Amino acid sequence: MNEVINAILNRRSCRSFTREPVAREDVETILDCALRAPSAAGKQTWQFTAVMGEEKIQRLAAAAGKALSREGYDMYDPTVLIITSNRKDTKFREADNACAMENIYLSANALGLGCVWINQLYDCFDDPGVRAVLREYGVPDDHGVYGCAAIGHPAGGPRDKELVGKKLIVG
Ligand SMILES: Cc1cc2nc3c(=O)[nH]c(=O)nc-3n(C[C@H](O)[C@H](O)[C@H](O)COP(=O)(O)O)c2cc1C
Repeated sequence: MNEVINAILNRRSCRSFTREPVAREDVETILDCALRAPSAAGKQTWQFTAVMGEEKIQRLAAAAGKALSREGYDMYDPTVLIITSNRKDTKFREADNACAMENIYLSANALGLGCVWINQLYDCFDDPGVRAVLREYGVPDDHGVYGCAAIGHPAGGPRDKELVGKKLIVG
């Protein structure tokens, strides 16, 4: 089967990671794939910020946990976190970032890495404590966070997936 079709058919979310570090070149590749996603009118008003290593990721997770009153929140403790942000005044910011998130998922899976969408920053990116950490990590103040990808070497295999959506061919 075609490799791309195969990758799409087999993509899954992974929520458990080993402590093995992800190679920097793999992170570069994933970011390159994100940058090539489609965006409305080709505007590309986004930024993809890869946060490497437990200490930095957990500092952001702790700030999010505090903002959301979720003590001990750890974003599934990944070894890499990619923050997908976009200018808050971009009309299709969330759709653009969703396209990039799929590229991130597919490229991570293709490299043998696990990945899951983390949505918690969506609800708290302008909380002062969260914003302070985002600013320190280089996310512009006029950006909202419309997705994050927790990435790492998977601990355990994928589960079966039940498909509940519908497909229809007319004609
Ligand atoms: C917009 C969006 C937000 C999501 N947010 C989260 C999240 O915060 N935490 C999480 O564990 N998974 C999150 N997911 C992943 C979904 O739960 C996952 O895609 C779904 O359960 C189907 O599983 P699969 O990705 O393995 O096919 C999100 C997915 C999308 C598209």
